Amino acid sequence: KRIAIFASGSGSNAQKIMEHFKRHPEAEVVIILTNNPQAYVLQRADNFEIPTHVFNRTEFYDTDSVIKLLKNLQVDLIVLAGFLWLVPVSLLNAFPNKIINIHPALLPKFGGKGMYGDHIHKAVLAAGEEESGITIHFANEHFDEGEILHQSKFRIEPGDTLDVVKFKIQQLEHHHFPRVIESLLKKMKS
Ligand code: GRF
Repeated sequence: KRIAIFASGSGSNAQKIMEHFKRHPEAEVVIILTNNPQAYVLQRADNFEIPTHVFNRTEFYDTDSVIKLLKNLQVDLIVLAGFLWLVPVSLLNAFPNKIINIHPALLPKFGGKGMYGDHIHKAVLAAGEEESGITIHFANEHFDEGEILHQSKFRIEPGDTLDVVKFKIQQLEHHHFPRVIESLLKKMKS
């Protein structure tokens, strides 16, 4: 099975996925795509000798070139790992039920446009939530919606700071995301 990863930033999740499927070669990451030419994920991809593709808004929203690239590579699953742009409907239609996203909160709470990075954890803490966690879900034409595949959570202890919450979330993401991808790929018909 062949995986494409979209990421806009550091790519620590992409790294865990690349590592996982190096150890479990029943699937492989065949390309990393980004909207951000400065994204550190590009360096990580180079370290794994995985090809990359950088696109701009016009290419992504007004042409089919990304779809063609993914089809040519015979991609089975598209993984959004810290990808900050909305997926165009044309791409959703080209890969139905084959695009998943990870979100660092317990959806449907704390999702939607503008809910990314520290904004999410600050909102969770400000709301006095007793727990937070991660959600892995199918992507659709809205930010952070679509059928939920997996959630893991932890209790927020009194005195937990932004950094503590961020760290706990990242631990959960790094542990679960590769495993959820692996089990989804196993369920997919070949
Ligand atoms: C993760 O927290 C992910 O849930 C969110 O963006 C972050 C990406 O982190 N959508 P990284 O680039 O994988 O380190």
